[in-house]
Amino acid sequence: MSKNIAVVGTGYVGLVAAACFAKRHNVTCVDIDERKVELINAGVSPFFEPQLDELISAARESGRIFATSNINAAIEKCDFVFICVGTPSAVGGSVDLRYIEQAAADIGKALANIDHYIVVVQRSTVPPQTTRHLVGHALEKNSGKENGKDFGLAFVPEFLREGNAVYDFLFPDRIVIGTDDDRVARELFALYTQFNAELSSDRIFRTTPESAELIKYASNSFLATKISFANELASIAECIPCVDIRDVVFGMGLDNRINPKFFGAGAGFGGSCFPKDVKGIVHFSRTLGIEPFILDAVLKRNAFQASHVADIVERALDGRMAQSRIAILGLSFKPDTSDMREAPSLHIIGDLIERGAKNIIGCDPQSTSEAREILGDRISYCDNVLQAIESAHVAVIVTEWREFCALTPEIFIERMAKPCVVDARRIFDAHEFSKKLEFYAIGFGK
Ligand code: UDX
Repeated sequence: MSKNIAVVGTGYVGLVAAACFAKRHNVTCVDIDERKVELINAGVSPFFEPQLDELISAARESGRIFATSNINAAIEKCDFVFICVGTPSAVGGSVDLRYIEQAAADIGKALANIDHYIVVVQRSTVPPQTTRHLVGHALEKNSGKENGKDFGLAFVPEFLREGNAVYDFLFPDRIVIGTDDDRVARELFALYTQFNAELSSDRIFRTTPESAELIKYASNSFLATKISFANELASIAECIPCVDIRDVVFGMGLDNRINPKFFGAGAGFGGSCFPKDVKGIVHFSRTLGIEPFILDAVLKRNAFQASHVADIVERALDGRMAQSRIAILGLSFKPDTSDMREAPSLHIIGDLIERGAKNIIGCDPQSTSEAREILGDRISYCDNVLQAIESAHVAVIVTEWREFCALTPEIFIERMAKPCVVDARRIFDAHEFSKKLEFYAIGFGK
C-alpha cells in the first residue's frame, strides 16, 4: 500500500530518498530554497547524480512527487517524515546542528496541527544522543505532543555513495533502525521490506538511536581508516625496490578477515562525508574526555598524503617548480561527480603553489567551473586531457576518471615537453609506464 512520505531537505540524501521512494509512495519534498522546489516540480534534479533526473521526471509524470516550501502542507497528510538537512562541520570539527534543530522545531509546529500519528525519521548524520535529546525535545516542545504516543522517532543512518546513490538506496547492504519504540520499528521494518524486495530481514538491524548514530560515524571512520592505512603502507612500499602496494593489499585481502574492498592507496580521501565525519567523531570523542588516537592519525595521514604527492612532483621536476608546466588530471574528489568538497586536488594544488609552482593546468571532465569558483585564476583550466598534457613537464593523476585510464605512454611521450607521469590513483600499468617514460606511482617501490 502506498504511504505518504515527507522529506525535509532536498540535498543529496533527501532528494535521492524522495525520488526513490516515489517509485512506490507519494512523496512531498520540503525545502526553503525556492529554486530547488521549482526545479523538482519541473522534473529536474538541482544537482547531478546518475539516474536522479530520470526518477524525478518519471515521478512527476505519475504525480508521486511534489516539492514545496510549506512544511505544514507536507506534514498534514504524511505517515512518515524524514529529516535530511545538512550537518556541516563547525569550528574545531564540531558538528553544526542548527539546521537539524530548525527542521525539528518546524516539524514540531506542524505536528501541533494534525491529529494522526506519524513517524519522524532522523537521517542526517549527528553525534550520539542528538536524535533522542535535541530532535525529540524540539518535536515535543513545539508540538505539545508526546514522543512514543502521538508520534514516533527513529534514527536511520544513510550510507549512500555519490555517483552510486540511487543504486545504494534501491539495493542497500543494510538498514539500521535506531529506535526504542516498537511501533516505530515495526512500521519502518514494513516500509523497508516492502520497498526493497531483495533486502533480507537479517540485513535490517534494530538498535538504539544512540548506537545507530555511532554506527554511522564508525562506518565512515573505519573506511577512512582503511584508506589512511593503505596510504601509510604505500609510503613504506615506495622505499622498497620491487614492492607494489597493489599486490600487498591484494595479498592481504585474500584473508577473509581482511576485506579487500575500499583498500586502495591514492591521493587521499575527500568528499562531503569522510573528512567531516572523522573530524566530527574526533571532536565528539574529546567532549567525552576520550583521546581519539587512531582517528586523529587518520586525519593527519590524509593531510600528509596530499603533501606527499606534492613531494613526488617536486622531486620529479628536480625542484624546478616555477619553470615547469604541471598538468593536474582530475579535480573532483572522485570520478563521476563534479563535487569539489575536500577534494585532494585542492590540497595538492595549494601545496604546489606554496612551493613555487606558477603554471598549473587543472583538467577535469566535469568540475572545472566548480574548481574555478574555489581556485580562481591561481591555475588555468581545461576539460580536454590531450590539451592539458600538451607541453607539460609533469602530469599528475589525482582523480581516476575513465577518460584518463585510456591514456598510453605513447600519448604522453608525443605531447609532453618532458614525458613524466605521477600516478597518484594507480590507474596505469606501472611496469609498462616505467619502462617507457619517467614514472612515479603511489605505493610503487623502485
Ligand atoms: C562515502 C561513503 O562511502 C558512504 O557510505 C557515505 O554515506 C558517504 O561517504 P562518498 O563520499 O560518496 O561516500 O565517496 P566514496 O566513494 O566512499 O569515496 C570517498 C573518498 O575515498 C574519495 O575521495 C575516494 O577517492 C577515496 N577512496 C575510496 C580511496 O582513496 N581509496 C579507496 O579504496 C576508496
